[in-house]
Amino acid sequence: MNTDLFSPLTVGRLVLPNRIVMAPLTRNRAAEGNVPQAMNVEYYRQRATAGLIITEATQISPQGVGYPATPGIHSEAQVEGWQAVTGAVHEQGGRIYLQLWHVGRISHPSLQPDNALPLAPSAIRPAGEAVTYEGLQAFVTPRALGRDEIPVIVEQYAQATRNALRAGFDGVEIHAANGYLIDQFLRDGSNQRTDAYGGTLEKRARFLKEVTAAVCAEAGADRVGVRLSPENSFNDMRDGDPQATFDHVAGLLAGFGLAYLHVVEGDMMTGESTLDYGRIRAAFGGNYLANCNYDLARAQQAIQSGAVDMVSFGTLYIANPDLVERFRQGATLNAPDPETFYGGDEHGYTDYPALDQ
Ligand code: PHB
Repeated sequence: MNTDLFSPLTVGRLVLPNRIVMAPLTRNRAAEGNVPQAMNVEYYRQRATAGLIITEATQISPQGVGYPATPGIHSEAQVEGWQAVTGAVHEQGGRIYLQLWHVGRISHPSLQPDNALPLAPSAIRPAGEAVTYEGLQAFVTPRALGRDEIPVIVEQYAQATRNALRAGFDGVEIHAANGYLIDQFLRDGSNQRTDAYGGTLEKRARFLKEVTAAVCAEAGADRVGVRLSPENSFNDMRDGDPQATFDHVAGLLAGFGLAYLHVVEGDMMTGESTLDYGRIRAAFGGNYLANCNYDLARAQQAIQSGAVDMVSFGTLYIANPDLVERFRQGATLNAPDPETFYGGDEHGYTDYPALDQ
């Protein structure tokens, strides 16, 4: 049998029936208290035919919050909210990982406990504006984490993993991409620390290494994925030598025996893709999940050629709950409506029709 998008794949403890993955998508539709609610259950339930669902980015702690109405996994109410989601997806025969998120400096005092400054590896203010309940507001200069505060955050990742498993998730994805806290440590544009967590490549990667070890200790490495975005400039990110940085990071992650590595293969802002992702994949060695502007044809080609093992789709999954079936039939796709991507109600969320509706 030729390997293609519709071939099964063993990913850690799961056998995916296809290689079509629902990418993590921030939709800002959690209830008060950052708690998943009924419409979130229905949204994920509708998309359960994906080979694997990766949830929207989900805060590991109250300090990890960076946007309005994004869900967390640190309170009991949040765990219960997610239990309804995982129950619905499993009832449909699906599989679902939770994405673990700490935004670091991409926040605002109005979103933080006691209106505190956001936390970051270094006190470097990102260019741009935070999304707050009061609208867009200029980013502030974050507070650099003290050396002794770092283990506390690593433990928050471990606790969030325990909570995710209690909520019934099949595994967790560590969000180390897109300019959020872990990525802020990895890239030299946002990390100017002079202690054990900054400077050399090895030191910049130390926080990710410790988080990955802590999460794997809770879930087992075969229920853990990691997401990277080596050249994404989103959230004012840059690195002096992204190929070297992420070859190193992929090699470091190879030692854990993870379920997969998820890579945003380009710059979300410009669409540019200049790095050798084959090298990053080779350095990792395990299941490689590719993302960034793939369509059906490009995804099929990438899998059939052996360049990637799975592909995740973001905007296509917003608009097409039955994306697997549409791809299988070569059917027309619903067009996504950007006006309803972030926030609002069921409209533009759970009302995109399936083929049989
Ligand atoms: C966003 O809210 O725009 C967002 C969140 C998480 C990401 C990327 C974008 O990884």
